[in-house]
Parts: sequence; structure tokens; C-alpha cells
Amino acid sequence: MQLSIKHTGERPEGVRNVFLVKDTAVLKDFGFNNEALAFVESKVEAKDKLITIQNYGIVYHVRLLEDDDLNVQGYEKLRKDGNGIFAGLKKDKQTSVCIYDLVGNKSAVIALTEGIALSLYSFEKYKTEKKEALDELIIWVASSAVNQGELNELRQLSNAVFVTRNLVNEPVSTLNVKELSETISELGAIHGFDVEIYNKSKLEALKFGGLLGVNKGSVEPPAFHILEWKPENSSNEKPVVLVGKGVVYDTGGINLKTPPGSLDDMKADMGGAASVVGAFVAVSANKLPVHVIGLIPATDNRPGGNAIVPGDILTMHNGKTVEVLNTDAEGRLILADALSYSKKYEPELVIDLATLTGSAVMALGQYATIGMGTASDEVFNDLETAGFNVYERVVRFPFWDEYGDLIKSDIADIKNLGIREAGSITAGKFLSHFVEHPWIHLDIAGPAFVKKEDAYRGSGASGVGVRMLYEFLKNRC
Ligand code: BES
Ligand code: MN
Ligand code: ZN
Repeated sequence: MQLSIKHTGERPEGVRNVFLVKDTAVLKDFGFNNEALAFVESKVEAKDKLITIQNYGIVYHVRLLEDDDLNVQGYEKLRKDGNGIFAGLKKDKQTSVCIYDLVGNKSAVIALTEGIALSLYSFEKYKTEKKEALDELIIWVASSAVNQGELNELRQLSNAVFVTRNLVNEPVSTLNVKELSETISELGAIHGFDVEIYNKSKLEALKFGGLLGVNKGSVEPPAFHILEWKPENSSNEKPVVLVGKGVVYDTGGINLKTPPGSLDDMKADMGGAASVVGAFVAVSANKLPVHVIGLIPATDNRPGGNAIVPGDILTMHNGKTVEVLNTDAEGRLILADALSYSKKYEPELVIDLATLTGSAVMALGQYATIGMGTASDEVFNDLETAGFNVYERVVRFPFWDEYGDLIKSDIADIKNLGIREAGSITAGKFLSHFVEHPWIHLDIAGPAFVKKEDAYRGSGASGVGVRMLYEFLKNRC
């Protein structure tokens, strides 16, 4: 997939034209005759905002932009219309499009362009016939409101989302821990962030009891990845640490997942890790002046001759003991060690992303991420605002002490299982035992991987988290 986004002052030929207008009269200057204008007018009266015109086999679009479109919901509609425009390009195998911005609103042009750009993604590498995707796309943008630098930023961000989607869509047979490590190292070399990887013996020396415990049923060793982006002009004194759950496949372990279909998407259980990697690609490719550390614990979770079993007690990296009562609550075990390890960086903020609980899917479906933790209201608000702006929305859940009481253990410090109710919050409470700095936990189990196609997010891996983290970090610079 080759994506180009280019600013232009000309009218490129052989492309599909899209006109972003406030007032349809300006279309005259673009050669619209009276008949075409009357057609557009009739559609406008019928309250259509995206108008498609076919003239002598040539297709073009007019997108009406009104004052009440200039807000976050309006920009999301523009992204979705970008996806609609892309569908036409794909159908006609048309690989270039030009957006004429006749309004001069930066956010609107960027949103429409982004909706087209993010729609280019497809995961068809394992199809040997009937490939439908476009291999390349050039988006020309004729606008006085944006410059080439901003369009480059958008292209890098879109490509970072594609990196995340690719990682999540790849099955474990081709993306186990070793391959995940290799991909992270390659991306670091390309984009200029540092990558250090701890192997099993190093993890044993560091006493990563959670990660090693989950890995016991596996035939492949675990790995712990440390990513760092620290440009000289960083605006923050202490780093922001991003932690991502990297369970490359979650069978449930000895508590094997048995409900029909419940294993089908578990290659996506490294979605949090993939979002952290994507965020690093976006931040480094765009050279954001912010110091960030990424921590990614990775293993698969399988039953095996030596696998952990319910009743086992693990001693974690920070010395706390955990009674394992369900081996399918593995994400919190590997995250615990990573969160505990974050302490050595004295971070100003820790954010973890994880496909952590089925409860999160039940609570919010695919449309939102659950947030909770110990960071200040101000930081939470900033993250919620960033998420809302890019439409990767976060909903904050309560984090009251009573929920923490539900994971007290009779024989160890805590247990890894709460009750059926409020499963996302008890999972978060479990994690809180391992972080000492201001922290936000994001449960992305709902939006990370979706069955039903969702406009420019596509189907399968959505890449959720990348655009939100990028927006959040950029606003902190
Ligand atoms: N990876 C799953 C959570 C999940 C479920 C993500 C569905 C995406 C879709 C996680 O490891 C898990 O199995 N959680 C259990 C925890 C329970 C045993 C306490 C769950 O939520 O059922
Ligand atoms: Mn599990
Ligand atoms: Zn899991």
C-alpha cells in the first residue's frame, strides 16, 4: 500500500475531483454548467451533504460544509464521507483523487483527507485470488488552509495506523514473539527510536514472575521490549511511559476458552502492544519533541505440560504475590511486571493499553475504550479530549476502593480473578498494585478488533489507540 498526499496549486489531470464547498455557486468557476448546478442544488435541498455526480462517465463529488459541521462530530462525518469517496475509487480502480478545498477550514480538509487515507488499508496478503484493494493512492489537496508539512504528518500518522493494523491482523503462526521482536527492531531502525529486548534469562534475573508464569505453557520464550524516543528538544523532563499488552495468542491457558468462537480473534490479543508500536512510529516519523518510553511484555498464553494452573502462586517483579485462579486472566499478569518496571524511569505519566477483558466488550461494544486509573482529572480530561477529537473515544470508569476488595486473596497478596460483575474494573484494580506513578489504564478490547466493517476503520484490526496517543502527546509538547 503506497499512500501519497500532496499539496497542489494546480488542477491535476486524470484524477477524481472532490469539491469541499460552503456555497455551491463557486462550482461555476470549476466548469459546472447550469444543469449540473441545478442537480447539486436539488440534492442540497434534499439535505444531502455528499453529492455524487456522473457526467459522460466522469464521476465527481461535492461535499457541502455548513457551519454546524465544524465540530468534532462534523469532522467524524467528513472522515466517514472520505471512506464513501474511497469506496468509489476502489470500485473504479481509480488511484488518484484531488480535494479542492473551497472553504479554507483546516480541520475539515484534514478530516476528509484522513478518511480517504485510512480507507486505503487492506489485509489481503493471504488471498491468492480476487484481491480487491488498491495498491496505491495519491491524494492531491488543493487548499490554502493546509501545507505540505501537515499533509506529510497525516501520511505518517496513517502509515503508523497501518503498522498497528498489520501487526494485529497477522496470525500467531507468522507473528509469534520472535517475529514481533524482529518487527519492532526493524521499525526502530527505520524511524530512529531505540529498541532493547530482554530475553528469558534476563527476565529470570529480573524476576518477571508474571510474564514468566504466563509463558510456562509455551514452547517459545517470552520477551520484554523497551522502546525509547528521546529527541534533544523534548519538552518533558520526565518521560511518558506507554505499556502494551503483547499476548501474541490467548488460548486461555489451562482455563482454555471454550465458548464457540471465543478463540477466533485471539491473535489480536497483542493489540495494546501493536498500538504502542504504532504510536512510536507516528511520534518518531513526525519527530514529536516528547520523551516517550514503550514497554511491551510479550508471550503467548497456552496450555502445556508445564503451564501454570489455578491455585498457583506467582511472585511478581515488585515482590507482590498473586494467587492465580484463572489462567485466562493472563494479561494483567504480564502487564503487572511491565508496570512495575516503569518505576525506574520516574515517569510523569504511565499509560497502558490492553485488550484486557471481555467485560469491556460487553460494556461498550466496539465504539469506545474504557479508561481508569490514578492520574489527575486534568490529565484524564486531556486524554478524553484527544480521544474525542480523533474519534477514538475513551469513557472513564470509577475506580473506587470497593472494587479493589474483590481481588483480595486468602493466601496471597491478591488474586487474579474478581467476580463476574465489573470485570474491567477489577482487572484495573489488579494492575494498580504494580504502578507507583500517575497512571491511566486503557482497556481497548472492544474497539481493537471488529468483525463488522466500520467505515475508515475497516474490519479486523482498527489500529485504535495510535491516533489518540499521537494527538494526546502532540498536545503536551
Ligand atoms: N484477551 C482476553 C480479553 C478479551 C476478550 C479481549 C474478548 C477481546 C475479546 C483476556 O485475556 C481474558 O481472557 N479475560 C478474561 C478475564 C477473566 C477470566 C477474569 C475475560 O474477560 O473473560
Ligand atoms: Mn485471557
Ligand atoms: Zn488475553
